[in-house]
Amino acid sequence: MTALRCEDVAVHFGGVKAVDGVEFTVRAGSLCGLVGPNGSGKTTLLNAISGLVPLTRGRITAGGEAVSGRAVPHIARSGIRRTYQAIRLVPGLTVLQNVMLGADDGRRLLDGLVRPRRAARADRESRDRAREALARVGLTGLEKSLPGALPYGHQRRVEIARALAARPRLLLLDEPVAGMSPVERTEIGDLLTSLRDDGMTQLLVEHDLEMVTRLTDHLVVVDFGRVIADGDPATTVRDDRVREAYLGRRHDPAADHGAGGALRGRDGG
Ligand SMILES: Nc1ncnc2c1ncn2[C@@H]1O[C@H](COP(=O)(O)OP(=O)(O)OP(=O)(O)O)[C@@H](O)[C@H]1O
Ligand SMILES: [Mg+2]
Repeated sequence: MTALRCEDVAVHFGGVKAVDGVEFTVRAGSLCGLVGPNGSGKTTLLNAISGLVPLTRGRITAGGEAVSGRAVPHIARSGIRRTYQAIRLVPGLTVLQNVMLGADDGRRLLDGLVRPRRAARADRESRDRAREALARVGLTGLEKSLPGALPYGHQRRVEIARALAARPRLLLLDEPVAGMSPVERTEIGDLLTSLRDDGMTQLLVEHDLEMVTRLTDHLVVVDFGRVIADGDPATTVRDDRVREAYLGRRHDPAADHGAGGALRGRDGG
């Protein structure tokens, strides 16, 4: 079964063709990797799927339903949740409150005005889901902390918990281990694997090709807003076009997982 399908998806910003005719399919229950050099359009593609930028052309469907053309809250309610490349937590709210924002389906505020008892129940449900999500990412006990007081790696986990609190059917992860230590990266990798084992479909943007190859079932490689390779991860990373895109010269990216393991592509980083 297909969880996500992009057909001829294009997002142009004036003359910048950030995404330009992308086609790929994510199978339900799979962990799919989305890789490509800096500026190749990965984040823009996630923004398009979650409704944050309009499509210039093309069509996106999730679970057979049209996503393109829908508003952000509609897409979120349909079970598509994400994390951001640059962490987006509300500094004045506690960790638990931040995660509850993800559990909330957006109807709570209205309910609070017209049906206080139902609102109280919804609030308890959000709290339970948020606690469950925090436990899943290993942050039990930090509910009352403010995000700013937590180490960076923990803040990234709060982002993941906020997305999980909605019990999404499609989880979009934009470089969830960026800036994490090798131990933390392994832990998050294990978390993503266990989510996949629970049947959650994931689309993972990550620069570390060794990690992506190890974790994912399927790999999509983009360059200059276009898909240049798509298929089995181990085979795909050895594709000539992928090597060229990453390094602009003959090289084996899969062999490049030494120092830091991350290949930042054209403009380093
Ligand atoms: N809102 C915007 N307005 C104009 N140009 C944009 C906008 N967002 C992205 N771009 C441009 O679109 C291209 C793709 O950017 P995008 O952030 O999607 O790349 P990326 O693959 O996520 O890169 P990275 O690996 O560095 O995160 C870049 O040239 C970028 O400068
Ligand atoms: Mg990006």
